Amino acid sequence: MNAITTHPALPPVSVSADSFRPPLVSLRGLAKNYGIYQAVYPLDLEFGEGEFLAILGPSGCGKTTLLKMLGGFIEPSEGRIVIGGTDVTRHPPEKRPTNMVFQGYGLFPHMTIRQNVGYGLRIAGKPKAEVDARVADMLALVQMEPFADKLPPELSGGQQQRIALARALIMRPKVLLLDEPFAALDLKLRQAMQEELRRLHSEIGGTFVFVTHDQAEAMSLATKIVVMSRGRVEQVGTAEDVYLRPKTHFVSTFVGEANFLKAERKLARVSIESAFSFDDPGADGTVLVGVRPEKVRLGPAAAGCDHRFTGTVLQRVFLGAQVQYTVRLTNGETFLACRPSGELSPGDAVEIGWMAGDQWVVTQ
Ligand SMILES: Nc1ncnc2c1ncn2[C@@H]1O[C@H](COP(=O)(O)OP(=O)(O)OP(=O)(O)O)[C@@H](O)[C@H]1O
Ligand SMILES: [Mg+2]
Repeated sequence: MNAITTHPALPPVSVSADSFRPPLVSLRGLAKNYGIYQAVYPLDLEFGEGEFLAILGPSGCGKTTLLKMLGGFIEPSEGRIVIGGTDVTRHPPEKRPTNMVFQGYGLFPHMTIRQNVGYGLRIAGKPKAEVDARVADMLALVQMEPFADKLPPELSGGQQQRIALARALIMRPKVLLLDEPFAALDLKLRQAMQEELRRLHSEIGGTFVFVTHDQAEAMSLATKIVVMSRGRVEQVGTAEDVYLRPKTHFVSTFVGEANFLKAERKLARVSIESAFSFDDPGADGTVLVGVRPEKVRLGPAAAGCDHRFTGTVLQRVFLGAQVQYTVRLTNGETFLACRPSGELSPGDAVEIGWMAGDQWVVTQ
């Protein structure tokens, strides 16, 4: 045996390159106020190359303000923005490795599609042959070649949106910033454009930051979701994190339907009346135990559940893919339960239950 390799019991040291790679974008204490109005409270956020980040929140919560600070269109009141190791906080938009697609398309109406897409490269002084070649590539990528010589007003909303995307992507930004790009489109077209954006992201790589107030859109596209409310970041995580393990009451209800039961936490143990209790670290006081309607089991299916209550069916609504029941519990609270099928009727006494792993705890 070779004396040098004498540690067969030790696993090989594997160092993932990722674990040492600094984040592509790093925001530190970034904030914006308009006079006494705080549009974005100081926030810290990091994300890596190749990430598809969604900034999700209701109207007025500060999404556009945050995105425009990233792109250099709004000057932060406080904090720093570092992209690719360079502090760009005071850099103008054209000096940043970012490009932004604004709410609305912002195409030049008097320029042809070809001229719109090539605009940034022409301004940057690229030779005509290179501009022509890259414009042709981009139009092919967004499948708009036949429209090259038309004017924007001759195009549909979805077609204009694709051109706005092409015009930003042609600059090969390290970070592409998209502000509610599909908000004006109808549902079918929006879904088609989401599919297109997913394809573009996987084909060309790069890092996308996508603003939306549509939780389904955020969950279906993003590798990481930043949930905002009233100028604050409430949670950062994957779609599963924010849906299955929401950290706040706001996140619980913004990303889906949630049932809540009032409970008391004392010495790291949460209890609901005398019904059940479980360990959960945190401050003493009143808390809410949350559970999603599709995790609630009814009738005989509730028998094996960790937590059970009895109640009465108030309402049964057939929703096609599922049946939604409203159940009044014996303690007076109402619960929603969604099942793939079911024959219970209003007035039926029913047992409901759920597994401990399907619940979460938030404060009010
Ligand atoms: N220039 C400004 N002066 C004063 N207040 C502003 C200014 N721009 C934005 N605000 C306020 O800051 C808050 C955040 O605005 P922002 O545009 O970032 O919201 P948003 O999340 O993008 O909303 P929406 O989903 O409606 O686009 C809003 O209450 C808005 O009224
Ligand atoms: Mg906005």
